Amino acid sequence: MSDGAMTGFGNHFATEAVAGALPVGRNSPQKPAFGLYAEQLSGTAFTAPRSENRRSWLYRLRPSAAHPPFRPYTGAGLFGAEAAQGAVNPNRMRWSPLDFEGEGADWLDGLATMLASNPPDSQSGATVHIYRATKDMVDRAFVSADGELIIVPELGRLVLLTELGRIELSPGEIALIPRGVRFRVTLPDGKARGYVAENHGAAFRLPDLGPIGANGLANPRDFETPVAWFEDVEGSFRLVQKFLGSLWETDLGHSPMDVVAWHGNLAPCKYDLSRFNTVNTVSFDHPDPSIFTVLTSPSDVPGTANADFVIFPPRWMVAEDTFRPPWFHRNVMSEAMGLITGAYDAKAEGFAPGALSLHNQMAGHGPDVASWKTASEAELVPHKIENTMAFMVESRWVFRPTQFALDHAQADYDTAWEGFPKASLPTP
Ligand SMILES: [Fe+2]
Repeated sequence: MSDGAMTGFGNHFATEAVAGALPVGRNSPQKPAFGLYAEQLSGTAFTAPRSENRRSWLYRLRPSAAHPPFRPYTGAGLFGAEAAQGAVNPNRMRWSPLDFEGEGADWLDGLATMLASNPPDSQSGATVHIYRATKDMVDRAFVSADGELIIVPELGRLVLLTELGRIELSPGEIALIPRGVRFRVTLPDGKARGYVAENHGAAFRLPDLGPIGANGLANPRDFETPVAWFEDVEGSFRLVQKFLGSLWETDLGHSPMDVVAWHGNLAPCKYDLSRFNTVNTVSFDHPDPSIFTVLTSPSDVPGTANADFVIFPPRWMVAEDTFRPPWFHRNVMSEAMGLITGAYDAKAEGFAPGALSLHNQMAGHGPDVASWKTASEAELVPHKIENTMAFMVESRWVFRPTQFALDHAQADYDTAWEGFPKASLPTP
């Protein structure tokens, strides 16, 4: 965050880019300072319990309501795609990192939707996208009405110019953009690739810690929200909106990033994954990977996430008499995984940074043969897994691949589990 940041997760912040722009003691004065327009951005129902309620008040140069009708937008051919037609197959699937193709695209047009669970208007489920960008977004902004976005850079830095402030984001960090917040993306390194997890359900929040206690995992103070920032730019601007999975566009005569001051608890933020306080066993067995949950979106079934954002960070492995990598597993929850850097300890090959894998509801998965063999025979001395960062979006809802995803999946992923020797029982 170059222009200062406010720390804490979901705090009630107050910030102004011009002194005197933020009203004191009220939200909607008869005449806001400088002729600014007061506008509430509601991320939850007005009547949501106080602990759930998320909203901010924005003070801007023009009301965001001032625009002509939206028309269909066709410039991002792979973004917003629906799940492929026909039966969803139960196969484990994996995708190598997507190439940078053709003359390139900006962040928006370079998005490819890979996995979609529930329709966005179900207010549940999550969608996983991958972006490949080689151009700045110029004179246009994007907004998703369908969900909040976790942006996970894998290659190249991003600058997220949002209505509520500027976020500089590097690989190893994530950004959380609330549903409805407009932004555009520029590329300081000229090229960028990464993942986007779009959450259609309840807003992400920090998980309860239970017996872990008052501290640990992602600590609230490490989340950074930008201070108010705006640009006073007239000219031809377009706003592309994702609405019920489809893309729509409208024209603006100015930059929509014209919020001079704001206050509230609905705001973008970023988090450096290296700040994650990793908790793991100091005796035996690998705890369930929920111990690595950064953020969770609960569903209406207690303890059953609409979506968890989980990481596999660098950590010491000290477990005694234990198969140390993630174990063989079948899960009622569905798991989509990506790799930000390094290698993942349950896969020896085929899962490079930028890759994606999918293990849907009850699909058998776990270490490949090479990883199993190595870990089964390793001397169990303390060992640090370093230079790695994988993540998982785990959902109670099955992920359905798009046609693009089906067309680009690795053909031989099942061979990862080929050739395990049979256990041999004692002769009776
Ligand atoms: Fe699993």
